[in-house]
Amino acid sequence: MKIAVVGSINMDMTVTAERIPLKGETLRGDNVRLIPGGKGANQAVAMARLGAEVEMFGCVGDDDNGRKLLDNLKESGVKTDHIHVLKGVPTGIALITVGENDNTIVVVPGANGKADKTYAESICRELEGYDMVVFQHEIPLETVHYLIKWCYEKGIPTVLNPAPAAKVPTDIVEMVSYLTPNEHEARLIFGEETKTEEMLKKYPEKLVITQGSEGVVTCMKSGQILHVPARKSSVVDTTGAGDTLNGAFSVRICQGDDIEQALLYANTAAGLSTEKFGAQSGMPLAEEVEKELEEK
Ligand code: RIB
Ligand code: NA
Repeated sequence: MKIAVVGSINMDMTVTAERIPLKGETLRGDNVRLIPGGKGANQAVAMARLGAEVEMFGCVGDDDNGRKLLDNLKESGVKTDHIHVLKGVPTGIALITVGENDNTIVVVPGANGKADKTYAESICRELEGYDMVVFQHEIPLETVHYLIKWCYEKGIPTVLNPAPAAKVPTDIVEMVSYLTPNEHEARLIFGEETKTEEMLKKYPEKLVITQGSEGVVTCMKSGQILHVPARKSSVVDTTGAGDTLNGAFSVRICQGDDIEQALLYANTAAGLSTEKFGAQSGMPLAEEVEKELEEK
């Protein structure tokens, strides 16, 4: 089973504070840390931890952060042969404030913004050998849409995690195998007025809406709405929990789980990841998720 991720690679510059600041407010924080992140890279690492063979596609700059992030991916067991290292462009950076229960993130795309159509054209043939290709919204959307169309024509299953929020054209929604927005992203895609149930029923076993600590919902082909509750966790840092969920879900679908099993597994993995600091550092190994599921 081989999965490709086409997406962002960021260095997360993270500070912790008692809470996230209000508009215009200055707070005292501590522990400035530089830790690997980026939704694409996070999802790739989550998959590798769960035992999948994964390749990451994307761009970094020719700088210290870029080198560290490439090393980190390799150490995590992710293939990096087609990541472009761009001269004179900074590696993507995310400025993150972690409060007690939530976080704020500002992303400066840098090299991620250069994963453009030309890059997409240069890697599309490489994707042919993969069992699934996974996308997010942290690289140019034209790249994401171009490659989803390409995969669709080749019959390669795809997952689109439409984060950060941006509209998804209807033909792309039709072409992806799985679309995994949170509630806010779903409303942007399907319209503010549309009820969750209505959205889900339109795309059974394709649309999976994540609801944070509430869990996830989807609609079965039978028309029944399925709610899979989240794992109860002692939260330290939710950064990357969504990425863990997407990574784990993709791995399990590839391994032949049905959607309910895959979501249960993904929720467990995501819950475990919130108990440690950092996007990638808390991501569980397959054994840890399995142990949790057995205990249930
Ligand atoms: O989903 C979490 C990620 O979003 C962080 O690692 C940060 O890089 C931002 O892109
Ligand atoms: Na975490």
